[in-house]
Amino acid sequence: MPYDGLRDFVSTLERAGELKRVRAAVSAELEITQVVDRICKANGPALLFENVRDSSMPLLINAFGSYRRMAMALGVESIDSIGREIEEILQTPMPTGIVDKLKMIPKIARFAKFPPKAVSSGPCQEVVMEKPSLSALPILKCWPQDGGKFITLPMVFTKSLETGRRNCGMYRMHVYDDQTTGMHWHIHHDGARHFREHKNAGKRMEVAVALGSDPAVTYSATAPMPADVDEMLLAGFLRNKPVEMVTCKTINMEVPADAEIVLEGYVDPHEERIEGPFGDHTGYYSLADTYPVFHVQCITHRKDPIYPATIVGKPPMEDCYMGKATERIFLPLIRTQIPELVDMNLPLFGVFHNYAFVSIDKRYPYQAKKVMHAIWGLGQMMFTKIIIIVDKNVNVQDVDEVLWRVGNNVDPRRDITIVDGPLDVLDHASPLPRAGSKIGIDATKKWPEEGHTREWPDEITMADDIIELVNRRWREYGLE
Ligand SMILES: Cc1cc2nc3c(=O)[nH]c(=O)nc-3n(C[C@H](O)[C@H](O)[C@H](O)COP(=O)(O)O)c2cc1C
Repeated sequence: MPYDGLRDFVSTLERAGELKRVRAAVSAELEITQVVDRICKANGPALLFENVRDSSMPLLINAFGSYRRMAMALGVESIDSIGREIEEILQTPMPTGIVDKLKMIPKIARFAKFPPKAVSSGPCQEVVMEKPSLSALPILKCWPQDGGKFITLPMVFTKSLETGRRNCGMYRMHVYDDQTTGMHWHIHHDGARHFREHKNAGKRMEVAVALGSDPAVTYSATAPMPADVDEMLLAGFLRNKPVEMVTCKTINMEVPADAEIVLEGYVDPHEERIEGPFGDHTGYYSLADTYPVFHVQCITHRKDPIYPATIVGKPPMEDCYMGKATERIFLPLIRTQIPELVDMNLPLFGVFHNYAFVSIDKRYPYQAKKVMHAIWGLGQMMFTKIIIIVDKNVNVQDVDEVLWRVGNNVDPRRDITIVDGPLDVLDHASPLPRAGSKIGIDATKKWPEEGHTREWPDEITMADDIIELVNRRWREYGLE
């Protein structure tokens, strides 16, 4: 059953022992971060701060912050099951006979339920703030050198001027005053593309920001969907029920009806302002830069709203588990482009874009190099700075094993590929912002056709009959 909004998820987490309430009065400035950082590093629960100074709204944080809670957020036992389901759908051959067609009906029906559904009212509009002011929200100042307070878990809704299609992305918002914030959509992301369309046409851009919804909807804002494919379709698929959308009070934009809080407003195409610095998920501060400015003209909310937040910083933090969900959910889709790809690990310490460990079913010479280039050509995977490719028998989820293979199987001059290209905005090591070099390491077994004419040694393994013998006799050795 999908969640009936964020508060239903809160209750579920609490019943499962996955959420703790903090009743002590706490400051939204740095204090909450320090508490949550400790909890994240100890693999602790979600926290509901019920008494944040200077705000009447409780603050929910770390709700996605473990493998278990991420799976609970998407209503499954394990995220892998979503990947398997997608794989099954992708592999379903087109039916020929009448019986096969009948078998397909449940699957087709499941898809038919995906589209978001327009509704005329929703709890997110129970209250319309008389004078819209962000000061009512318990917005965090996360780290000491942050440029101010930041809204950290927003679902930002925009529309393409050219196609009218909707996008929902998660872009942090630097609060300048009670009615204005920065709009930190990276140049490569869809919100920024919609902004460029408006800028070219000299038109003001309507933007709605929803805070707190069914967690599958919030997750979908972070998912790397292809341009102009509505994230609400993915959310509908994940919840197995359409997302109900209600039209905003002052702009032509729809938001999830179950949201806790909605900010309605606009971005002026001619206005920019310094955004940041911000303690980011790389574990470093992202540098201040100029970004568009969001003007809040209306705030609606539930009668008793919960403000959702996250903190990012040195990994592992809450967002790492959202990244891991994306790795699992999108793996089958990546395989449609790179069929030889067996498994992929974007390790938590790699903060999504720094590392990808990839195993392949190698069938021809130089295939590892081909796979590197394919990854660098694939949506947001293009940002991957360090790719390590290993053979299909290697467990890429075991970082020690991957590094052991690299040490043994790589001849640096032959097996390292360095390319230039776009980089994640958050990369601070490249000489230029957003552009620099990336490295691919081919740690697969080398073939004679790849210039390796020497013999390649076998890996050490024990004979099966001896393993079996020792298993059988284990107790006799008196070692337990
Ligand atoms: C907690 C969190 C914060 C994020 N902050 C930003 C941000 O400030 N700017 C940005 O462009 N992307 C940010 N992202 C990544 C985007 O949400 C993600 O890449 C998404 O796929 C972008 O959607 P789009 O391609 O529809 O624009 C963040 C992701 C998470 C999980």
